[in-house]
Amino acid sequence: MAKAISEDIGVFYHHYPKLAAIVTAQARGKENAMTVAWHTSLSFSPPLYGVSISPKRFTYQLITESREFGVNFLPFEAIELIASVGGSGGRAIDKFHRFNIAKDEPVKTKVPILKVAYVAYECQLVDDREYGDHRWLVGEIVAVHRLKEAFTPEDVIDLDKVNPVLYLGQDIYLTTAKDTVRYLDRKVYGKG
Ligand SMILES: Cc1cc2nc3c(=O)[nH]c(=O)nc-3n(C[C@H](O)[C@H](O)[C@H](O)COP(=O)(O)O)c2cc1C
Repeated sequence: MAKAISEDIGVFYHHYPKLAAIVTAQARGKENAMTVAWHTSLSFSPPLYGVSISPKRFTYQLITESREFGVNFLPFEAIELIASVGGSGGRAIDKFHRFNIAKDEPVKTKVPILKVAYVAYECQLVDDREYGDHRWLVGEIVAVHRLKEAFTPEDVIDLDKVNPVLYLGQDIYLTTAKDTVRYLDRKVYGKG
């Protein structure tokens, strides 16, 4: 089988799937939500989370004003909400009203927390840097909202209870296949 080699990244979906999440923000009493696929954990101590957001997004404007953001992880049953907030602009509409989004109260910030999320982070902005056409925003996690029954006693997502949302690119969504789950002890496998 031949591999094609090029310098052109095209639509940049080769390394997907990614976990889809919803970033929330508020400022001046205006709340908003947008979908992100470019995001990751960065540090345990302090707990840091990074999201890559285009400065064109209304959400980016709200985050720079308030210096806070939320990261919400939704179950597969909520993919239509993920497509809705990722396909609409908060300057033109109130997404919370239009998409009938239920909220939980934040505890350490003023960011909206989505009721449907099985886990959500409240973050305080600690860095905002330009990387090409996106901004890399780093937040310190100051509160975690977690649906207890969605996690095993070891704090791993219980796939009997929650189907996480994966994004493949080109508006294609999928979830995990429970029958592919394997346990491979790294101490055993690390010995070769
Ligand atoms: C599945 C999906 C993933 C997305 N990932 C990102 C992302 O990581 N960063 C980004 O800036 N925009 C991303 N977007 C686009 C924004 O969600 C979209 O432009 C949204 O309308 C911005 O809303 P706002 O202007 O109200 O903030 C994604 C959209 C979808 C549907």
